[in-house]
This record gives sequence, structure tokens and C-alpha cells, in this order.
Amino acid sequence: MRLTYVEHACVLLEGSRRVLVDPYVLNERLPADPDLVVVTHGHHDHIGETVALARPTITTNEIAKELARRGVPTQGINTGGGVEVDGVRVTMTQAVHSHMLELEGERLPGGDAAGMVIEMDGLTVYHAGDTALFSDMKVIGALHSPDVALLPIGGRFTMDPAAAMCAARWIGAPLVVPIHYNTWPVIAQDPQAFKAALERTTDVRVAVLAPGESIELP
Ligand code: NI
Ligand code: MN
Repeated sequence: MRLTYVEHACVLLEGSRRVLVDPYVLNERLPADPDLVVVTHGHHDHIGETVALARPTITTNEIAKELARRGVPTQGINTGGGVEVDGVRVTMTQAVHSHMLELEGERLPGGDAAGMVIEMDGLTVYHAGDTALFSDMKVIGALHSPDVALLPIGGRFTMDPAAAMCAARWIGAPLVVPIHYNTWPVIAQDPQAFKAALERTTDVRVAVLAPGESIELP
């Protein structure tokens, strides 16, 4: 599987299917025609271009209803549950984060913000969404044994690097990719310092990816 850090919290997973998570970009171009779109929550910097893409989408129940009303073929899931589409399994996890659905100029109740565990081709990717550190990340690690954890490190609206270091230990994924930083000055962080600190103190490897950069997952 190939993982591309598109920008901000947007990630493309390419294996037997092309799965695009949180399709929001500021400077980069959005990958065209993904097979599946996954949305963690309704803040504009995550739901992004979901309506314009109009691809099969998996997201939370509350967002799913609004997307379906707007013609997007959407399947809703809720915390602890999941669905499989064409060999891709998506499971919704807890995230500790506020949530309003920001869609086409409207502000709607958004239900719970989420993280998403995505399984494809025998690999498991945990996209934490926007979240604070919470101790049940240990449960996500125990239940799903992710191969990769995508963790926000920007602070202000999510975990900062210190919290993400604790999260990485609790989740136990052998590889961490930092996301949701340096998009704007308010979430400026040094990902290389995060990488150095985590790799010095744990066996976890950190892949710092520039926007648009890809890695092959083993
Ligand atoms: Ni958010
Ligand atoms: Mn965000």
C-alpha cells in the first residue's frame, strides 16, 4: 500500500482501492476520482471537497445523512462500528474534539467527531482525526493493532507533539506519520523535533512527509 500525505489531515491510501481521507487542501491538488472517501468530522478543514467529489463516502451517521441529502452516496457508521466496502473496512473510533458540520455555508449539528481505522490489503491505518490525547487510545491499539498511526501534532485544536508522543506509545503502531500541523501559523510545529524525540525514547519510527510526498507501507 502506498500512503500519500496530501496536505493538512488529507491522506491518500492506494492499494487494491484508492481511499481518500479528509479531502481538504489549501495549496495542494486533491487526488481525482478516489474509489472511496472517508471523513472523520464535519469541520471545514476535514469535510473539505467531499460534496464536490461526490464519490462513495463513509463517515459518521449525522454527516452521512446530510451528505446523502446533497446527493453524495454515503454510508454512515457510529463509534465502535464499521462497514466494509469493496475489500476496504472502515471502523469509527472515539475522538475527543468538538464538532459542528460546516457544509456549503451552513452550520449544522455534527454528532461525534471521530477517528477512523482503515483496513485494506492486510494493512491497518489509524487516522486519529482531530483529537485530544485520551487513554482509550490503548483500546484502539489493542483492538486494531494498527500498522500506521496518523496523529495530529499541531496543538491549539488537537494534540501537540508532547501529547502525540504519549499517544504513539499507547497505540503501539510501529510507524507514526504526523499530520495537522504547519497549515497555518497557529498550528506551527517542528515535526523533525517530534520525530527525534519519539525515536530516541521508543521503537516507534516516524515518517515526516512533505505535502504531496508518499511512502510505501511494508
Ligand atoms: Ni476539527
Ligand atoms: Mn482540523
